[in-house]
Amino acid sequence: MKIGVLTGGGDCPGLNAAIRAVVRRATQYDWEVLGFLNGWAGLLGEGNVRPLTPEDVSGILPLGGTMLGTSRTNPMKNPEHMQQVVDNFARHKIDALVAIGGDDTLSVAAKLHEIGQKTVGVPKTMDNDLGETDYCIGFNSAVTIVADALDKLHTTASSHHRVMVVEVMGRDAGWVATIGGLAGGADYILIPEVDVNLDKVCDSLQRRRQRGRDFSVIVVSEGASFPDLEVEQTDSSVDAFGHVRLDRRNVGELAAREIEKRTGFETRTVVLGHLQRGGSPTVFDRILATRTGATAVDYIKEGRYGCMAALKGEKIVPVPLKDVVARTRTVDLDLWNLASTFY
Ligand code: F6P
Repeated sequence: MKIGVLTGGGDCPGLNAAIRAVVRRATQYDWEVLGFLNGWAGLLGEGNVRPLTPEDVSGILPLGGTMLGTSRTNPMKNPEHMQQVVDNFARHKIDALVAIGGDDTLSVAAKLHEIGQKTVGVPKTMDNDLGETDYCIGFNSAVTIVADALDKLHTTASSHHRVMVVEVMGRDAGWVATIGGLAGGADYILIPEVDVNLDKVCDSLQRRRQRGRDFSVIVVSEGASFPDLEVEQTDSSVDAFGHVRLDRRNVGELAAREIEKRTGFETRTVVLGHLQRGGSPTVFDRILATRTGATAVDYIKEGRYGCMAALKGEKIVPVPLKDVVARTRTVDLDLWNLASTFY
């Protein structure tokens, strides 16, 4: 047997740990592994590949990023590209492919399965918004970075008696803001799932001041909106999957300027950006990547194609790729409401 593996979409810590697990488990079965470079781009044209041996993946467990490179290439945009992907399965003689990615990458894997190619998936997105799994690789590392940043920002906010608005990633779902904010003791959390009037946020900040808390840290998801403040998408160009760049909404800075105007409190903005996707994976992400990467190879051995290795509770279970990409898993509002206990 020979299998392929690729990483697609935004990078995050834990991808290398997943690649390592795929290669090591395949090696246990005496299979060969081919790495396709830069996501689905690696299956276009004649294919861009490198063999992966246990030696190649030695020492990569703690490394951020992805040794295979990544891209947001979408072969589904062009039937010829889709055909090239299919042809490359045959050209490189791979029996099956492990796609490590989020909804975009896995929607291509689901489509390939539908048209008869053998694919399995591994859940990766720091947004944590894939359906049918409790957690995705990269999320825990991202929220650990957010919590650490909030700890640091608390001390400077408190010293200067300021409001700090911290903008975090999260395209369609506010998981990073909610969990990172809860863990870091945010004084307000603003997410795409719930539109909150900035007046409400300002009232809360005023009440904190009245209680003697003369500083505040607010976490805002890049996709958040406010009924009482227009947020403009300053760049409406889209990537191959039709996504606009949410950092171009400048929602953190907009909210900060408005909060300062409405409350008179000195306010600063910090955009955590791609720092949330850097560095070494947390223990949680290393274990999740190791378990899902190895299990995805087991699915191939068992002939369970079109499935993703999902975490449900404590168990890794197979879930259909088509269900994974059918919906965005948004924030559990009980968690978001829990945060208000501390406002
Ligand atoms: O896909 C995950 C994500 O981190 C989103 O939260 C964010 O909007 C986007 O990637 C940023 O993408 P890029 O790395 O292309 O700027």
